[in-house]
Amino acid sequence: MKPQQQSLIGTSEAMQPVIADIESSARSGAKVLITGETGVGKEVVARTVHQKSARQAAAFVTINCAGVPDSLLESELFGHARGSFTGAVRDNPGLLRQANGGTVFLDEVGEMSLRMQALLLRFLETGEIQTIGAATASAKIDVRVITATNRNLLEAANAREFREDLYYRLNVFEIRVPPLRERPSDIPVLLEYYLQWFGEHHRHGPLAVSKAALDRLTSYGWPGNVRELRNVVERLVLRVEGPTIEPDALPVEIASHVPAARDQGPSHARESVSDQARVDALIERLRQKESF
Ligand SMILES: Nc1ncnc2c1ncn2[C@@H]1O[C@H](COP(=O)(O)OP(=O)(O)OP(=O)(O)O)[C@@H](O)[C@H]1O
Ligand SMILES: [Mg+2]
Repeated sequence: MKPQQQSLIGTSEAMQPVIADIESSARSGAKVLITGETGVGKEVVARTVHQKSARQAAAFVTINCAGVPDSLLESELFGHARGSFTGAVRDNPGLLRQANGGTVFLDEVGEMSLRMQALLLRFLETGEIQTIGAATASAKIDVRVITATNRNLLEAANAREFREDLYYRLNVFEIRVPPLRERPSDIPVLLEYYLQWFGEHHRHGPLAVSKAALDRLTSYGWPGNVRELRNVVERLVLRVEGPTIEPDALPVEIASHVPAARDQGPSHARESVSDQARVDALIERLRQKESF
C-alpha cells in the first residue's frame, strides 16, 4: 500500500539544487536523466517535473526497464499489431503512443539491452514509432522522455554496456538526487509525514518519537533511502501501541546504531551547520509532541 504522495518532501540544503533543477527542467521541456541510489525518490522527481511542465494535463506514463524481456519491453513501448506474434490477439498502441503530448518515464534505463537501446535511440532521433508487425512507421509522436538510473551510465558506456550516443541524448539535464544520509535534516520531516499518513491509514492514535529514538533514526545511514524509511514507519505504526516510539521498538540495525556517528564520516560532513541546527530544533519539537 502506497501513500498517494506526489509532491517532493525535503527542504534540506542538499535538496535545493534538486528543487531548482526540477523548476528549470520543467520550464525547458528538455530530456532529463535522474540519477541516484535506490529509493531516493527518482520517480517522485520525474513526476514533479511532469506536473510542473506545460505537459501537465497530458499523460505521465512510467515503465520499469529492469527485468523485462526484450520482446515484451519492445511491444510495451512501441506497441504491436494484432497477429504479429503468438498471443497478440489485439492491437496494442504501446506506451509511447499513449503518452503522446505527455511524458514517458523510463525507470532503470541502464538495464536496457543493447538492442532495446538501439530502438530507443532510433525513436529519439526520428520521433517515429515502429510498431511490431506494422507495415510502416507511424506518424511522429510528441513525448517527453525522462529516464532514471542508479547505475553510472558513463562507466557503463566505457564498459560498452550502454551506448554512449544514447547516453548523451538522454542526459540533456541531469538531476542527481542525494541519498538520505547526505540530508539528515529531511529525516524528521519525512518521519512526521509518514507517521501521520500511516497513522491515519491504520487508524492509530498520534504517535510521538522519543529523543533517543529520533537520534538513532536521524543518524542511521538509510541504505534503502526514503523507501526504507517509509517501510520502517509503517511497521512501527502497526507494532507500537503506546503513544511514544522508543529505541527498543526500532529495527535492530537502527536501534544498534550509535547516534554520535552523525558527526563523523565524509558524507555527513557535507551537511551544513545550519542544517544540523535545524535537525536539533525539529527533534526538540517532535519530542514535545508538536504536530507539523
Ligand atoms: N522526497 C520525497 N518525498 C516524499 N516521498 C518520497 C520522497 N522520495 C521518495 N519518496 C517515496 O519513497 C518511495 C521510493 O521513491 P521512488 O520510487 O521515487 O524511488 P526511486 O529512486 O525511483 O527508487 P528505485 O531506484 O528503487 O526505482 C516512494 O514510495 C516515494 O513516494
Ligand atoms: Mg524508481
